Amino acid sequence: MQTKSILSLLALASVPLASATGNNGNGKGSGKSCSHKGLDWYAKKAGLKYFGAATDSPGQRERAGYESAYPKYDEIMWKSGEFGQTTPTNGQKWLFTEPTQGVFNFTEGDIVANLARENKKLLRCHALVWHSQLAPWVEAKSDWTKDELREVVVNHVTNVMNHYKGQCYAWDVVNEAFNEDGTYRESVFYNVLGEEFIELAFKTASKLDPKAKLYYNDYNLESPSPKTEAVRKLVKELQEKKIRIDGVGLQAHLIAENRPTLEQHKAAIKGFAELGVEVALTELDVRLQTPANETNLALQKEGYYNAVSACVQVDGCIGVTIWDFYDPFSWVPFVFEGEGAALLWFEDFSTHPAYDGVVEALKEGRKGKGPKAKRFIA
Ligand code: XIL
Repeated sequence: MQTKSILSLLALASVPLASATGNNGNGKGSGKSCSHKGLDWYAKKAGLKYFGAATDSPGQRERAGYESAYPKYDEIMWKSGEFGQTTPTNGQKWLFTEPTQGVFNFTEGDIVANLARENKKLLRCHALVWHSQLAPWVEAKSDWTKDELREVVVNHVTNVMNHYKGQCYAWDVVNEAFNEDGTYRESVFYNVLGEEFIELAFKTASKLDPKAKLYYNDYNLESPSPKTEAVRKLVKELQEKKIRIDGVGLQAHLIAENRPTLEQHKAAIKGFAELGVEVALTELDVRLQTPANETNLALQKEGYYNAVSACVQVDGCIGVTIWDFYDPFSWVPFVFEGEGAALLWFEDFSTHPAYDGVVEALKEGRKGKGPKAKRFIA
């Protein structure tokens, strides 16, 4: 993972912009008045199961600096009522959970899982089989036999899921297995096992925690494309083979200047929901070319509005998670040169115009069509 210096991150984060946004960032709570109910409240009113924010364990956040912001951050994250759900951004990944073959470590993942339990937040668990942030030992060996790698996958999924058994509303079982053109991504798993690795992961997961919904999760699934078709095909194949898959996660790492329309979002979500699986926006953020200004923040607001409104309007879309909520802790500036300010809270804890776009989308609900069908929110 490419990282940038703290200095450049600070430079980026100092953009904020109470002035550009007209928001006074009053420094209290989430910067909202007492009568303000919070995004999760509005989401539930709109028929969603949750509106959530992913978060990192403090140890992982340290690379961004900003320790002095933690109390305020924690208050919004856990106490404000803005979020009813969370996902650990890093701690449950293979790199942390099985750094050495057969040696499991749940320290990082447990920090967020425990905070979620203490603060009564729903927990989405993330991610079991992924080519990235994989422990180096998995890729270091070039001559895995199929049997050996099958055992590695089964052992990993089994140990991690058993550790978190009963705690996860959902598990991202396989993450990012496809290329943009719908072909399978080259990875150690695909190269050794072929398509079978996905089946194996889901089959294994299905036996371990009956309460956890099993998701396939990927990016660029927010508009119909060869990639969405490939994921639809995968869902159908698993269903035909009677292998449990309960959901498709649309990461929704969007770009303000190139955001999908409301109709594109709705078409993509429907394409999955009509297969009988639930859909969630699992890692929503809308990055922009920094510095942020009135123009790109307005595009970002539209980007958030379109995504959230589509989820509210399509039956089967059950919730939205933003990938952290506070700009200084976003992954974006670390990975995308020149881009940032992708979340809903600026460095000074004032909110982006996009925050109001999300509230609007949630408040509008289904545009006169009544609440979402009960069967999807039970
Ligand atoms: C990101 C984290 O937010 C970063 O802290 C980390 O350095 C890299 O991974 N898709 C995913 C997430 O499924 O796990 C990624 O999270 C973002 C892209």
